[in-house]
Amino acid sequence: MDFSSSIISLLLHFLLISSLVCPINSSETIQQINKPAIKTIQISDGDIIDCILTHKQPAFDHPLLKGQKPLDPPERSKGHNQISNLSDIFQLWSLSGESCPEGTIPIRRTTEEDISRAGSIDSFGRKANGFRTDTIQNGHLHSVGFVRGDIYYGAQAIINVWAPHVESPNEFSLGQIWIVSGSGKDLNTIEVGWQALIFIQVSAGRYGDNRPRLFTFWTADGYDQTGCYDLLCPGFVQTNNKFAIGTPISPISTYNGGQYEITLFIFKDPTNGSWWLEYGLGNPIGYWPSSLFTTLKDNATIVQFGGEIVNAKSTGAYTSTQMGSGHFAEEGYGKASYFRNMQVVGSKNFLTPLSNPTYTADQPNCYNVQGRFNDKWGHHFYYGGPGRNEKCP
Ligand SMILES: *[C@@H]1O[C@H](CO)[C@@H](O)[C@H](O)[C@H]1NC(C)=O
Ligand SMILES: *[C@@H]1O[C@H](CO)[C@@H](O)[C@H](O)[C@H]1NC(C)=O
Ligand SMILES: *[C@@H]1O[C@H](CO)[C@@H](O)[C@H](O)[C@H]1NC(C)=O
Repeated sequence: MDFSSSIISLLLHFLLISSLVCPINSSETIQQINKPAIKTIQISDGDIIDCILTHKQPAFDHPLLKGQKPLDPPERSKGHNQISNLSDIFQLWSLSGESCPEGTIPIRRTTEEDISRAGSIDSFGRKANGFRTDTIQNGHLHSVGFVRGDIYYGAQAIINVWAPHVESPNEFSLGQIWIVSGSGKDLNTIEVGWQALIFIQVSAGRYGDNRPRLFTFWTADGYDQTGCYDLLCPGFVQTNNKFAIGTPISPISTYNGGQYEITLFIFKDPTNGSWWLEYGLGNPIGYWPSSLFTTLKDNATIVQFGGEIVNAKSTGAYTSTQMGSGHFAEEGYGKASYFRNMQVVGSKNFLTPLSNPTYTADQPNCYNVQGRFNDKWGHHFYYGGPGRNEKCP
């Protein structure tokens, strides 16, 4: 970008932000979302972390969870013998050397700009659609691998993280795991992964740049009234005081360069029934109480892994928003994005390799997927693509 175009784009950003900030009186809402902090940490990349007393976190505003205390992490599911090297937890803010005291959890502070970007308070923290169906809905495109036909109590994968180009503020690009049960209004999901959005996210957005950030999401009614991203509504109970959901993941993979991975593990506590999230093995982040859910209260019936983008263009050329690394699956290691060592938690709390995953891409000329298997990486796949190209005009 040359100097004059960067001035113009700055001006445009300013105009857009000021026009967005005005119509919504978000300061009251902000006060409801942001809890009183014991300590505040300003991180170098502009995000602010508030250390909130653990029992005052948003989850405990939920009518079903009022007055509860966070549960202790349960025993791990069987079949896990690796113990994590915590250095695979990459977070910019922890590099600052600051941390939240015992008895508190770090929560990324919501700014007026975040809410303005979402367009309205009703859409703030919400996700439009998300789970792949047999048709393409609202421009959401998936390149995924999934299993169904059994009962699942969790899933695990190691995935490499990228910062894909995202063309428009109405679009995003992500790599994630879906834990699913039910359909239609009874669709329940738990979703975890990394997501990139660009600076001004008018329709459904949350963050202010396109760096990949760890996100969590849940819904108990097919993306309608319940659920949200991260800790933006009562639901997810965070127990970890070292990790802030919603802040950038770093470092990230580069084409023909270093490949940086995160390990995500979701599993159901067989005793209490809550769904736990570990980020990096042996490092619990928190849990979704089973009481939040209907169809997902007991078990999941589909586990899906992969990439999703939104193509917000309804006419003209295809979006240039990239999925994964922005390169097609056949380029393989060091170039394409991947999920490896995919496993599910089956009955008796055993972690087991997938059996017969199905791979599918909605628009393989734009973004594709290739499933593979070997001893070291088990079931794994490469996925992604550039969006607009000769075959995807
Ligand atoms: C963890 O990983 C770091 C960086 O790769 C390495 O230096 C360290 O020795 C590892 N620690 C253990 C316990 O494996
Ligand atoms: C799980 O623990 C919470 C908090 O102690 C409790 O309210 C809930 O009833 C428990 N659920 C089950 C199924 O044991
Ligand atoms: C799985 O969950 C459903 C509710 O969605 C329930 O009807 C079914 O009995 C559960 N199956 C098992 C094996 O627990």
